[in-house]
Amino acid sequence: MRLNPNIEHAPGYPFLRLAEARRDAQARGINVVDLSMGQPTDPAPQFVRDALIQAAAEVPLAAYPSAEGLPELRVAIAAWIERRFGARLDPDREVLPTLGAKEPIATLARLFAREGDCIALTSPSYPVPERSARAAGLSLSPQRLTHEGGWLPDPELIEWRRAAIVWVVNPHNPTGATSSLELLDELAQRCRSRGAILAVDETYSEFWFGPTPPASALQLDDRRGVVVFNSLSKRSGLAGLRSGFLAGDPEIVRRVRRHRSDLGTTPQAFVQRAAIAAWGDEAHVEHARQRYARKRELLAAAAVRAGFLDAGGTAGIFLWLGVPRGDDLRAYELLLERSLLVVPGSYLGSGGEGYLRVALTAQDEHTARAAELLQTGARALAGAA
Ligand SMILES: Cc1ncc(COP(=O)(O)O)c(C=O)c1O
Repeated sequence: MRLNPNIEHAPGYPFLRLAEARRDAQARGINVVDLSMGQPTDPAPQFVRDALIQAAAEVPLAAYPSAEGLPELRVAIAAWIERRFGARLDPDREVLPTLGAKEPIATLARLFAREGDCIALTSPSYPVPERSARAAGLSLSPQRLTHEGGWLPDPELIEWRRAAIVWVVNPHNPTGATSSLELLDELAQRCRSRGAILAVDETYSEFWFGPTPPASALQLDDRRGVVVFNSLSKRSGLAGLRSGFLAGDPEIVRRVRRHRSDLGTTPQAFVQRAAIAAWGDEAHVEHARQRYARKRELLAAAAVRAGFLDAGGTAGIFLWLGVPRGDDLRAYELLLERSLLVVPGSYLGSGGEGYLRVALTAQDEHTARAAELLQTGARALAGAA
């Protein structure tokens, strides 16, 4: 067997390591409260399930779905973008339904970079842009984010000479920082002038806890060279549906669409029909935002009382906590021994050392228990110092 060394030698996926740690702890009799994954745990909206069931009964299963997606879904997504961001997109040329956000994010580097190019990204960050670029044999140019820099990329530090794609996660996972439209505009302009693509992952766009909703790169007056990803996984708590979209520059959309026929990644028609129902409703999103806000308040207050620093921004579905005396791995281990599983920042890349990522997605009773465990964990951390 001749393995692809780019894949074979990639570092382990952080969430597989965490799943292993959880299994080990459970095998030792620890009843783990898991705040590691950003996986929604509230029940899926019933009207989406109903739409899925109805579509499953009606859609002809003998036929392949088409690579451009159902026209009605593209229209529903474009209508949502217009309602939410005030941006008008052509559903035929500027929108493409996908199997969630991860799938098109993972294919981008393969399509829009050549040997010798690099992929510019930030660290710490959601690992998929990095891992897919590695798998494509491309080099990486990570920019280390800092607390002082607001966890935002500095355009001056991007390796513009070689960059084929510049990645921004907005709101950022893991820190919750949001990029202003001005920053996105500057990045888009600089990408355009060098023939690079600005790729903006907006998977967490619907969860903000400050005064203003996060901006979208789709609001830019000039979207040439810009592509945005979003999904129902977080917005509607439908990670199991695998439904999202990419949108932006029609030329990027056209190239991705063409490539998808080679891959067989077109979403099932019955899934797309359920997605139409989800994008058409805001009430369930508003409820989810309020639920996350309550959990966020509870956990942030407990964490700060326990001596952690609430170090992140005000959006997304995670808290980003600075660890007293800065040893995130030690804090992670001590918390897990006390049955709380969170993500050590260093698992998410260089720059994450000294921080913990804590998800807001657990059920209320687990979140309340986690708030207590943060306090006992912090006492143990102080005792171990
Ligand atoms: C920043 C970011 N982008 C994309 C995804 C994947 O989303 P999806 O479930 O739509 O594939 C995640 C999942 O956690 C994420 O954190």
